[in-house]
Amino acid sequence: MSKKIVALGASNNKDSINKKLASFAANQIVNAEVNVLDLNDFEMPIYGIDRERESGIPTLAHDFKVHLKKSDGIIISFAEHNGSYSAAFKNVMDWISRIEKDVWESKPMFLMATSPGGRGGMTVLEIAVNKFKLMNKNTIISYSLPSFGQNFSEVDGITDKELLISFNEQLKSFEEAL
Ligand SMILES: Cc1cc2nc3c(=O)[nH]c(=O)nc-3n(C[C@H](O)[C@H](O)[C@H](O)COP(=O)(O)O)c2cc1C
Repeated sequence: MSKKIVALGASNNKDSINKKLASFAANQIVNAEVNVLDLNDFEMPIYGIDRERESGIPTLAHDFKVHLKKSDGIIISFAEHNGSYSAAFKNVMDWISRIEKDVWESKPMFLMATSPGGRGGMTVLEIAVNKFKLMNKNTIISYSLPSFGQNFSEVDGITDKELLISFNEQLKSFEEAL
């Protein structure tokens, strides 16, 4: 049985390195049906309680949830903006968190981050792992890829041997949870 994987870069950069990493990870899963989402397709007004009262929750937020519901597992790679989530991602999360309590549909999740620098988005990844473990009781796996430019190739994926070994270990744990 093939597994349906939703993958996204938590960024609205059209050349997002996190989208590339999330997509790479999803495509490493044997027999997976991969659905790569682009946050630009889910751009909504900035969340506000008054806006929600006046106009309700945007259709795009419901559409995003349908993708999650139809999946067996979710891969998100976080862009780090000033030590936290990108505004584009946070806005989608804020809107979908108003639909129902089970924001991530209790699906296994592989949370990742990468950046051009040596910390590999570890600050946002730690924030995400702590928060997502509270929101979702299913398996949460994490992985950070430092220095994306040096360690990732569009053709070969993760090129550093040691980093690839640790990535494969984390990916295996995610696959086992699917
Ligand atoms: C507004 C802004 C804030 C940023 N803040 C950080 C940061 O706190 N830490 C970091 O490692 N990189 C930071 N960066 C650099 C990002 O890691 C880099 O732009 C990366 O490409 C983002 O991932 P993306 O390509 O998936 O959007 C920032 C970039 C922007 C545009």
